[in-house]
Amino acid sequence: MTLEVRPRALALTLLAGVLRRQQSFDELLETELGQSGLDGRDRGFVRLLVATVLRRLGQLDAVVAAMLDRPGSLRPEVQDLLRLGAAQLLILGTPGHAAVDTTVTLAASSTVTAPYKALINAVLRRLGREGAALLAGQDAARLNTPHWLWQSWEAAYGPECARAIAVAHLGEAPLDFSVTRAAEAPLWAGRLEAQILPTGSLRRAAGGAIPDLPGFQDGAWWVQDAAAALPATLLGPLDGRLVYDLGAAPGGKTAQLAAAGARVVAVDRAGSRLARLEANLARLGLTAETVNADVTRWTPDQPADAVLLDAPCSATGTIRRHPDIPVLKSADDVVRLVAIQTRLLAHAVTLVRPGGVLVYTVCSLQPEEGEHRLAALLESGAPVEPLPITVDEVGGFGELVTPAGTVRTLPCHLAGLGGIDGFFIGRVRRR
Ligand SMILES: C[S@@+](CC[C@H](N)C(=O)[O-])C[C@H]1O[C@@H](n2cnc3c(N)ncnc32)[C@H](O)[C@@H]1O
Repeated sequence: MTLEVRPRALALTLLAGVLRRQQSFDELLETELGQSGLDGRDRGFVRLLVATVLRRLGQLDAVVAAMLDRPGSLRPEVQDLLRLGAAQLLILGTPGHAAVDTTVTLAASSTVTAPYKALINAVLRRLGREGAALLAGQDAARLNTPHWLWQSWEAAYGPECARAIAVAHLGEAPLDFSVTRAAEAPLWAGRLEAQILPTGSLRRAAGGAIPDLPGFQDGAWWVQDAAAALPATLLGPLDGRLVYDLGAAPGGKTAQLAAAGARVVAVDRAGSRLARLEANLARLGLTAETVNADVTRWTPDQPADAVLLDAPCSATGTIRRHPDIPVLKSADDVVRLVAIQTRLLAHAVTLVRPGGVLVYTVCSLQPEEGEHRLAALLESGAPVEPLPITVDEVGGFGELVTPAGTVRTLPCHLAGLGGIDGFFIGRVRRR
């Protein structure tokens, strides 16, 4: 296989993993790409190519279908090859001959797809001539968003906002960092060529290998979206306080709490993720007690001054960073997760001392997982009262705070600064 075809062959494997085996793109990148022996440039290309196909799946499928008499009868393996070829031709600007020739060569390398070489060649050549005009006439935001998500966002945020969210998903998110020592933020902003956001996070354009960036080996910072960095800052004074970080791994929020001087107990039921949390904290020179347990069965000796519950969720707020989510998640997942979130939240309340604070957060755009869970907790008669979050506490960004005093970030917020992940954050005080 030629050098040009190898990265594309790997992209094909990754795409099949996500689309047909429901594997996570991140895990595939770690395993398949990690063991591929490809150099940094080729790895970057594989990641970009697969991410582009996933981000533009609806558009690519529509232009490919327009080239075929019976698009429904395509073999999945052939369809994936056409998706990869079309993404290069129409989105990534790969020269036509390279996109077509490498895709045809790749088709020839498998007995399943070899019989379709001529078809693939013809479709891609025609797409090279007609595809750009077809693409220009498409409703990209709508086509690339699964119907259930579009409907849910329209109902929750209105049609204009739903569209703005879907448009934000077409682009890549910037790279955000939290610094280990707050006073060093200007220093690392300079070295990383990043800006300091009003919320305190550092931000620069995406791209490049994280471990190669200055300060990584020294543990000066960790990667954390600006929205993900908000919940831990909303627990009140932390120095010397006992904080339970529930659903803690891989530890972005644990690191913030520890860096702010809290005595942190980080609880997670996934042992492998907890090991990553420990490695992350070690790199940063921070400490926390770790507990490998199911939070709903965890009964510590004493209640905490503050509890942070970062619940498992559909993660639809992070589609810019994880373009496989629309493929992997369904409305049924939300129903399943809501039941888990309800149980976790009810138990989390019992772990806070009277007068202490509980912050509940999810990186989901689905109100069932965020706003509705907090409302249900308050209506359940649990011994808590709302503790509204103010605009000043989130960097002065008024668009992030709801009239109810909760935080609802959307990928279309902070538009002039590069957007922000979608999170819900609610805060209550234990009576
Ligand atoms: C959204 S992630 C946490 C991200 C993390 N707080 C951070 O900032 O890096 C949710 C975590 O909850 C954990 N989890 C899910 N159900 C749990 C349960 N019943 N008990 C403890 N941990 C749980 C998952 O293993 C996962 O690591």
